[in-house]
Amino acid sequence: MRAVLSHVRRKKFDAVVCLGDFVGYCAEPNQVVDAMRTFKAKKFYIRGNHDRVAVGLGEGSGFNPAAKIAAEWTQKHLSAPNRRFLEKLPLGPLERDDFLLCHGSPSDEDEYVFHEGHASRIFDSTDASIVLYGHTHLPVIFSVDQNGRVRGSAVNGDALVRLERNRRYLINPGSVGQPRDRNPRSSFAIVDSSKMTAQFFRVPYNIAKTQAAILKAGLPAVLANRLKWGT
Ligand SMILES: [Fe+2]
Repeated sequence: MRAVLSHVRRKKFDAVVCLGDFVGYCAEPNQVVDAMRTFKAKKFYIRGNHDRVAVGLGEGSGFNPAAKIAAEWTQKHLSAPNRRFLEKLPLGPLERDDFLLCHGSPSDEDEYVFHEGHASRIFDSTDASIVLYGHTHLPVIFSVDQNGRVRGSAVNGDALVRLERNRRYLINPGSVGQPRDRNPRSSFAIVDSSKMTAQFFRVPYNIAKTQAAILKAGLPAVLANRLKWGT
């Protein structure tokens, strides 16, 4: 996240958006929340399912064993101000400027949107022109034309995608802390609704150091190992 933030600081943007899951898998949740809380910018933040479970606002019933252990570990290690910050994060969907922000989908923060059929149902449920979502950890763009025809494509690596005014979009910027598209570099995007562009960035970071911190904290080794492969 530090690598991404130093990259972001050199870019032009109006607001920083985090679509949830600030914490939940890695060994430095307080450093992450401190940095995101104090980042100097207009900020639009919503919570994710891991934030919810890490502050005890819900059960991690759908969590795999490693995610469950990490959520319990995070709950024990969060500072009081950071716990309060996570507790107060709004649950999406949140309408901000030209965007609808959600973690999983507009109707369910735990829903994974992977394929066009699924995206089509979401387009039917909202008239937002650009929905930004997360949760799957996969950078992708789905769009729908005026006749309801949906197309989707994974975004591989750095890419500039031009958006069309007569289409609506579901955009996932990918994951900063745990990319899962077999590209281990951190992923983020800048979406410009006036220029109608979505620019995706991949940022290298010190994976070995992050893995060492995860192992030293006693978190499950799988959470460290997967970072190397981006899975
Ligand atoms: Fe999530």
